[in-house]
Amino acid sequence: MRLRITPGSNLSGELTVPGDKSIAHRWLILSSTASGRSLIEDLPRSLDVGSTASCLAALVPSVRPGLEAWSRNDGPAAKPGSSTWNAHDRTGVTSPLEVQGQGRAGIHLPSHDLDCGNSGTTMRLLAGVLAGAPFTSVLVGDASLSTRPMERVAEPLRQMGASVTTRGGHAPVKVDGGGLHGITYRAPVPTAQVKSAILFAGLEAEGVTTVEEMVWTRDHTERALRALGAPVSISADRTTVSVEAFQHEGFEGRVPGDPSSAAFIVAAAALTGSEVTLRGVGLNPSRLHFLDVLARMGVRTEARVDHESVGEPVGDLWVAPTEGIRSTTIAAEEVPLLIDEIPVLAAVASRAPGDSWFLDAGELRVKESDRLAGLAEGLRALGGNAVAEGEDLVVAGGGLRGGRTYAGGDHRMAMAFVVAALSASEPCEIDGVEAADVSFPGFVGALSALGARIEVLP
Ligand code: S3P
Repeated sequence: MRLRITPGSNLSGELTVPGDKSIAHRWLILSSTASGRSLIEDLPRSLDVGSTASCLAALVPSVRPGLEAWSRNDGPAAKPGSSTWNAHDRTGVTSPLEVQGQGRAGIHLPSHDLDCGNSGTTMRLLAGVLAGAPFTSVLVGDASLSTRPMERVAEPLRQMGASVTTRGGHAPVKVDGGGLHGITYRAPVPTAQVKSAILFAGLEAEGVTTVEEMVWTRDHTERALRALGAPVSISADRTTVSVEAFQHEGFEGRVPGDPSSAAFIVAAAALTGSEVTLRGVGLNPSRLHFLDVLARMGVRTEARVDHESVGEPVGDLWVAPTEGIRSTTIAAEEVPLLIDEIPVLAAVASRAPGDSWFLDAGELRVKESDRLAGLAEGLRALGGNAVAEGEDLVVAGGGLRGGRTYAGGDHRMAMAFVVAALSASEPCEIDGVEAADVSFPGFVGALSALGARIEVLP
């Protein structure tokens, strides 16, 4: 799927982005392991969320009918690259998911390996759930996921008493669960996926389970657990979280729009000097640091919370017309709070007059692709200048002249390049934009509806 983006258009309007992928994974797991009925609205149709849903359908017979009905009606968008994939797919409403859980006792030995597709969150979160289940199961993934680090989740689960093996640190991940006890784990790398896996395992462990991180990471798991009445305690600086064994009941909630998807639209508005409003976006502070960085770069936004859903603040996000983009430096301690937004911030930085630095961002090398190398190569191919060296990325500003690049099978790279192209001086061509379906089905349609000039090339 190759797109041609013709710069120069002004965007305007209002938009709802698909539901938050991070929250969707967690609520799917929590509803499938709840005792009783749950109803979740606005689950996104993204492929990653589909991976978690299909693994849970294989693990929990009582929720299978509900998950299958959801996936038949509105489930994940078609596989990228398939002939049914539609670049102008809707971002719209999906039918609710209704499931009947039987508690964690409802988890049964699956009849096959659990395919996590491209989704690191599916694999790591489910490893935590399976650590408490008294059988052996195997988590597998696609070629990209099979190269990503899994010892970081295996090691603490082993310390809790599960037997977890990886193949040289990677998937397949084999989990032989049961008999867990609480631990205090000082995470060497700040990652919400590992923190959440340990907390899910902690629900099934004897005693207290504590995770200490050097820096605060997204807190969706602890918010949901607290909203469901679990005994969770969180330190004042939010870097230490403890949980004790607990069986939660079913719940109802509406998944807020994904702020990491909203970030691409905010950046597109900023690069084109446009005014755009996003409705119903998740406004959890652990996900909004990109707005502070954009403010440093001269982009004015306003976020207004109007309600909560299962402990998550939700509201509108307004982007004011931007007059000029400034360069910035992202410090090492900011990286965990921007982990998914660095690609799009790099796209914005390409428009600033000076150099922007992204320091100690080595974690980006083990995402769906090596995003540091990919950003440097892609921005250069689009007529800009950027270099990745070791753990750092520097994006020289001055704008993009135009060119052609490939998304490398990575959803956030695909969207970052499309957004960057909106303010190039000549048209750009981006290959592999179907990868956007992993987190933002309907991305191209959404940008086009706001007024971007995007053509699908044969
Ligand atoms: C996620 C956490 C982040 C993020 C990913 C989703 C989550 O990964 O990059 O897209 O839902 O917990 P890490 O926790 O590994 O940094």
